[in-house]
Amino acid sequence: MEFSVKSGSPEKQRSACIVVGVFEPRRLSPIAEQLDKISEGYISSLLRRGDLEGKAGQMLLLHHVPNVLSERVLLVGCGKERELDERQYKQIIKKTISTLNETGSMEAVCFLTELHVKGRDTYWKVRQAVETTKDSLYTFNQFKSNKPETRRPLRKLVFNVPTRRELSLGERAIAHGLAVASGVKAGKDLGNMPPNVANPAYLASQARRLADDFETVTTKIIGEQEMKELGMTSYLAVGQGSKNEAMMSVIEYKGNPDPNAKPIVLIGKGLTFDSGGISIKPSAQMDEMKYDMCGAATVFGAMKSLAKLNLPINVVGVLAGCENMPGGGAYRPGDILTTMSGQTVEVLNTDAEGRLVLCDALTYVERFEPDCVVDVATLTGACVVALGHHISGLMSNHNPLAHELINASEQAGDRAWRLPMNDEYQEQLASPFADMANLGSPGAGTITAGCFLSRFAKKYNWAHLDIAGTAWVGGKDKSATGRPVPLLVQFLLNRAGLENLE
Ligand code: BES
Ligand code: MN
Ligand code: ZN
Repeated sequence: MEFSVKSGSPEKQRSACIVVGVFEPRRLSPIAEQLDKISEGYISSLLRRGDLEGKAGQMLLLHHVPNVLSERVLLVGCGKERELDERQYKQIIKKTISTLNETGSMEAVCFLTELHVKGRDTYWKVRQAVETTKDSLYTFNQFKSNKPETRRPLRKLVFNVPTRRELSLGERAIAHGLAVASGVKAGKDLGNMPPNVANPAYLASQARRLADDFETVTTKIIGEQEMKELGMTSYLAVGQGSKNEAMMSVIEYKGNPDPNAKPIVLIGKGLTFDSGGISIKPSAQMDEMKYDMCGAATVFGAMKSLAKLNLPINVVGVLAGCENMPGGGAYRPGDILTTMSGQTVEVLNTDAEGRLVLCDALTYVERFEPDCVVDVATLTGACVVALGHHISGLMSNHNPLAHELINASEQAGDRAWRLPMNDEYQEQLASPFADMANLGSPGAGTITAGCFLSRFAKKYNWAHLDIAGTAWVGGKDKSATGRPVPLLVQFLLNRAGLENLE
């Protein structure tokens, strides 16, 4: 799929299809109006006859519009003009793409990027259009014997921008959008892979490949032997009931002209399968626990985007790969673990395993003297209860970092919402025998999990993203979403000073 930007008038386009907006009720957008003029009122006469109201998502495909050089004109309902917001815009793009893909136009010139979207500029509209297009064309059928094929798939999409001055902005938006989209795809592919294939060693092999593909990247794999030497007892305990060796992949990206500049560290929870262990989960939808590595998958995706963008910053990505199984050697409720930090933890539930893996990864990364650390994890079912599937949970020990991430989440349209972390919640983690339990007393499960992690993140500025609700969609069309790759990449773009500047 090829994207480009152009600045021109609709009647001069010679394309398989031109895409223009119509507002409710039956109001032509400025571009549609131009087409109407040269076609001597052909489009407005259709609207008068009631063929298209302009409701958001309505589509009307026209052939051979008089005096128009393009073969087809796709009229796209955009709803009420003043109500066109970000969400509406993305939905309209999505619908447009599936219509184009199904109706035989292999290329199209899209004028929807000229519509006015509340509070958003051309850069944003083009970038979101690229990301949304890639997102809606995504399929994962490498395990299907008969792969569904689109007969005449969309191959080339040109976005029109209002002035020539905005062409360079549009080109930058395409480059950024494509980089984000490739990270999102990598995250989805890894997430969707079945757990018998995508085990910790598989995550490690992907991490190594990234180092092969980019000169700026080096990868180091830490297996169980080295974890033992490092004292990562808590991480090891989670993996000890599985035949698949735990492996932590450490991906170092160096783009800063100063190779010693302090890195941003991203850590992803990589439970390639979470059965719950001895505190075993119910069978229903247990297959979805293959998605418990989506933190690692999206950190991997973000590292890939970053390497493609060649940003002038240093970043370390850690994929904390591990499998939680109830084998004969499994850890049990009641066990007391000494973490790499020296703090002890009483295991009350082996299904609260993510924090036990992450706590040692958080201690491990101290050696990088990080500028900041962001961990990403499908950590708690409670987060799905609190925020549903639309918004990720965010916790942090540093207000400016929290604000940076919230801002990035809004810019990228990949939202996160901050939850509190007061000391009262910390008290819920008390254990009679160890420094803390791996489980909080009932209530605020997402926050107590965040509080647990915060105890291992005292040496640097830290934030935690709970993506339990946003990392995948369940049900019949289940799939990983690739979130929060857009948020993470936006955060990195902002850090590199490359956000949306002309
Ligand atoms: N991976 C799960 C969290 C999860 C559950 C994500 C459902 C998405 C959907 C995590 O390891 C877990 O099992 N958490 C427990 C913690 C509890 C035992 C304190 C949970 O949320 O039930
Ligand atoms: Mn669990
Ligand atoms: Zn888990």
